[in-house]
Amino acid sequence: MGKFEEYIHDFIEWNEGWKSYLQSEQIDKSEEIWSELDRLAEIMENIKQPDQMNDNELLKLQAQVDDLHHHMEAYFVNRTPIGTIFMKEPMVEAGEHSLPPLPYPYHALEPVISEEIMRLHHTKHHQSYVDGLNKAEMKLKEARTTGDFSLIKHWSRELAFHGSGHYLHTIFWNNMSPNGGGAPSGKLLQDIEQYFGSFEAFKQQFSEAAKAVEGVGWAILVWSPRARHLEILQSERHMLLTQWDTIPLLVLDVWEHAYYLQYKNNRSEYVKKWWEIVNWKDVEQRFLKARQLMWKPF
Ligand SMILES: [Fe+2]
Repeated sequence: MGKFEEYIHDFIEWNEGWKSYLQSEQIDKSEEIWSELDRLAEIMENIKQPDQMNDNELLKLQAQVDDLHHHMEAYFVNRTPIGTIFMKEPMVEAGEHSLPPLPYPYHALEPVISEEIMRLHHTKHHQSYVDGLNKAEMKLKEARTTGDFSLIKHWSRELAFHGSGHYLHTIFWNNMSPNGGGAPSGKLLQDIEQYFGSFEAFKQQFSEAAKAVEGVGWAILVWSPRARHLEILQSERHMLLTQWDTIPLLVLDVWEHAYYLQYKNNRSEYVKKWWEIVNWKDVEQRFLKARQLMWKPF
């Protein structure tokens, strides 16, 4: 058997393997994943003389197989095990965010934080971020329908402010507990000690960062998937135009250094042309990796 015939043989086996897996999971036959597997199996089975395929045909075939791999991955990332049944994790539709319940009663953090503060903070302040985020999302949805983006700056700011407010508070409530205190353990402690020198040194830097936030804001311990180390950051207000708890997938540099020599001050022409060189494969891969991180939706 030639190398390529072997590849086809392996592919068909792999394909059959997936099908029996889907069957054992009782995945509905109307799900798109079934027809995708069938479609590619058919292509493979119809290759009568693999040796006579040219490079272009081979590359095209390989791209189709890659696509199928990505779709399979995406499909299973989308599913969350609940017992032995798999279901799709619900997505929060535009304008559908809700206030998450506190994981403890309002008085539970006393005497460190009073019941009165907790009640106001959660039911008034956090609720207003949820409402503001929903409104911004709906206004932007409306703009996509009408094509009227004249208020894009305003609603993008609102989206960042209220979105970060909502996401950070959702993290904040769960970061605290009536039984809290002490020090972390395991891998987190190890990483803290490795990067900051010691738990005490980390605590000191975090406290100093919190005390020195200009105006209102947050001190934030983050994990950088790129640097693969922890870091301590400040955030003024909630954001400064980004939303915390999100992962960038596709970015466009609109600093002048990115286009001025060629496009002068015509940023819009640069933006228009830029779409011709976007590497969607890369964006898709970032998307699939990012989707593996799943928090409870609110
Ligand atoms: Fe707050």
